[in-house]
Amino acid sequence: MNLAIFGDQTIWIVARSTGVASLLALSLSLLSGMALRPKSLGWLSTNRAVSELHSYATVLWLPLGLVHVIAILLDPYAKVGLGDLVVPFRVSYGAFAIGLGTISVQLLVVVLIAAWSRTRLSRGQWLAFHRLSYLAFAAAFLHGVLSGTDLAYPWLAGIAWLVAAILAMFGLRRITHAIRPQAVPLRAERNAA
Ligand code: HEM
Repeated sequence: MNLAIFGDQTIWIVARSTGVASLLALSLSLLSGMALRPKSLGWLSTNRAVSELHSYATVLWLPLGLVHVIAILLDPYAKVGLGDLVVPFRVSYGAFAIGLGTISVQLLVVVLIAAWSRTRLSRGQWLAFHRLSYLAFAAAFLHGVLSGTDLAYPWLAGIAWLVAAILAMFGLRRITHAIRPQAVPLRAERNAA
């Protein structure tokens, strides 16, 4: 494809900026999703608003991720082809780092399809698919940190790891909330039952 109107540098800058922006939006999506159950952001906003934010973040990371992938495909220096979106770890350089990008996209596609088919799935099935987003995020994060040009700058890498640490903290809260035994009903409640 003739990239004369854009220039190789422009395509590269678009790829990098949309990569970072998509990862940021994905972080927001994960954070708002995890905050829903134990209402971790209750001090900041209502659960309804957090749920809206969760939906909005998806509308944000999806097109950004799409533009990132298209720009990478168009960038002659990246040497990434359509086949690399299907079979990971094949690129001639940084195979592991770029392959993680492919894995994250594939997992996110499954999460999206499950979300769109929610009415046809049982809650358990939907949840099992939806939880793949944790793996997808981990893959996208490592992909960005390992293959990024901008994320190699210490200040941006520092912010990325700080965001990852906050997400891990919310994740731990979410897991603790999920496995905590249900509160034992009071004796009066048990007698009345
Ligand atoms: C939604 C999924 C994806 C996200 C969130 C994502 C995010 C990122 C981020 C944050 C960077 C670092 C940008 C920088 O610091 O300069 C990056 C770089 C890169 N990504 Fe992705 N990526 C995704 C999918 C993919 C896929 C599927 C491929 C190709 C198979 C890919 C190929 C690349 C390449 C080649 C770079 C290096 C760009 C450079 O030269 O700096 N990414 N990506």
